[in-house]
Amino acid sequence: LRSQGTHASAVTVPSADTETLAGIDWDNFGFSIHPTDYMYIMKCERGQWQQGELKPYGNLELSPSAGVLNYGQGLFEGLKAYRTFDGRIFLFRPKENAVRMLEGAARMSMDAPSEEMFLSAVRKTVLANQRWIPPSGKGSLYVRPLLIGSGAVLGLAPAPEYSFVVYVSPVGNYFKGGLAPIDLKVETHHHRAAPGGTGGVKTIGNYASVLKAQLEAKSKGYSDVIYLDAVNNHYVEEVSSCNIFIVKDGEISTPELGSILPGVTRKSILELARDQGYKVKERPVSADELMDADEVFCTGTAVVVNPVGSITYKERRTRYNNGGLGKVTKELYKALTEIQMGLSTDKFGWIEEL
Ligand code: COI
Repeated sequence: LRSQGTHASAVTVPSADTETLAGIDWDNFGFSIHPTDYMYIMKCERGQWQQGELKPYGNLELSPSAGVLNYGQGLFEGLKAYRTFDGRIFLFRPKENAVRMLEGAARMSMDAPSEEMFLSAVRKTVLANQRWIPPSGKGSLYVRPLLIGSGAVLGLAPAPEYSFVVYVSPVGNYFKGGLAPIDLKVETHHHRAAPGGTGGVKTIGNYASVLKAQLEAKSKGYSDVIYLDAVNNHYVEEVSSCNIFIVKDGEISTPELGSILPGVTRKSILELARDQGYKVKERPVSADELMDADEVFCTGTAVVVNPVGSITYKERRTRYNNGGLGKVTKELYKALTEIQMGLSTDKFGWIEEL
């Protein structure tokens, strides 16, 4: 047994050397919650953050009038911890998530943990649950930092107390069918975000509002939907759970930031593609261009880089690469995942080793 940082009194954490997981079928993990050993909790009352601590994973107790339950004051993050082939533990670009949470909190009028508090909580939670990090190449440990208005309110106002929680779950591929190309549908009726709204921050409400269109599409056999902009109903924004890229004549384009989520994988793919000599643009991408692209792929922490096999827009359906994996998609997937799993040199400085 080994204690974690300054929180030795809160909980005694088993180390990976003394406790192993028996009977886990690492080959068949999808993307669903799998309870682990510990979560981290830290509270902020009237602007003052208290000492955080690791606790056994379990339910949270909340007032029925908590700001998050009544007025949606909530933000979340997603990042991953990987086990390398030689047994090291890597976090991928955790600072990006810390900064994004701070930016989201400013937009949602919430108190947020500092970058140092965020990173320390993530490191402690991952190390406390390290036996749940899948073997190299069999998935990753998804880390979910959550910031909620936990204080009670009745009139519409920022909550007087915030809770920062970090929990983890081992995960495999996000979409059913693993890395097989997915079929998407362009949503022409509902919108995800509007200019001046909160589409560019990772607030919980952005995700509840996409469920209706997503469920309708799923019932027709699609994996997910692509949202269009709310002004012209013509420019591509993002998929419910991830960002989107097109490749045309060797040039890579993705919708510019504004009302879309500033994805960490999106940013990494832009940097990788530029480094590999591709012409890369962040610009408005119309639905027509999407339908005429040579390759389309999605990016996100959960989905990684996922090829798109077909898109249906109004009455038209385009199949890309005969439903197979495109050359550029494959190259970028490989370049990203090899850095994440420690199989290639991290010349960008994206990896933090624990
Ligand atoms: C992620 O990719 O980390 C996300 O937060 C998307 C979520 C819908 C799983």
